[in-house]
Amino acid sequence: MSLAYSRIVVLTGAGISAESGISTFRDSNGLWENHSIEEVASPEGFQRNPEKVLEFYNLRRAQLLDPQIQPNPAHQALGRFAQEVRQQGGQFTLISQNVDDLHQRAGNRDVISMHGQLLSALCSQSGRARPWSGPLNLKDVCDCCDPPQQLRPDIVWFGEVPYHLEACYQALSEADLFVALGTSGQVYPAAGFTELASQAGATTVEINLEPTSRSFDAGYYGPASIKVPEFLEKILAGKA
Ligand code: APR
Repeated sequence: MSLAYSRIVVLTGAGISAESGISTFRDSNGLWENHSIEEVASPEGFQRNPEKVLEFYNLRRAQLLDPQIQPNPAHQALGRFAQEVRQQGGQFTLISQNVDDLHQRAGNRDVISMHGQLLSALCSQSGRARPWSGPLNLKDVCDCCDPPQQLRPDIVWFGEVPYHLEACYQALSEADLFVALGTSGQVYPAAGFTELASQAGATTVEINLEPTSRSFDAGYYGPASIKVPEFLEKILAGKA
């Protein structure tokens, strides 16, 4: 069996983790309805009120580690799909805007986490990251600088440059299939990936609860836990 697509790039957003119990940002009752982006997701907000920002991410980190929060069938299907594509000699790149680790827990070990990771802390001086699973407090400082510097959440805030952009652009420039999954397509540079992939000649597909304002060659609409396994099965069967 040969793959209909052999250089596949999937971009995920908060929608893929919604059914695992993690709030999205822009849906009703999403995180940005109840919090100010400037206050909790910008370097200026952190300078003004570090305690508030640390507390915001401490709550989200604790939520992520709640045993009830688990990968859902969409994460799991992507984990299996990645293995299958690679076994058949294809390239598979998973780029996630999500800061949870549900893709990794579902078997995707080489996720490009372009907006950082909740389970990581960053030295605000050297930029060195380290695993972090507990609360992060004002007294928590690095061991890489002299004098030790404040640690901050390893999250790419508004106004900061996402991680691994070169790897993203490289994969997009070679893609023959690009899938935007559970993302509202409102935050750049990720919001521009569809156009870049399309310019590179890729077929572009959206999977979401509902169509977004971006334009795709095809769209599959409904809950990710159902639509993602269905779509990936079709791709493997050469029917999409
Ligand atoms: N299945 C599929 N899609 C869903 C589901 C679901 N069960 N639930 C919600 N969605 C869709 C929504 O319709 C919406 O289009 O997921 C999308 C979530 O959009 P956002 O909340 O804007 O999340 P995202 O696109 O990941 O946000 C991008 O914005 O503030 C930042 O840094 C943050 O990485 C984040 C970035």
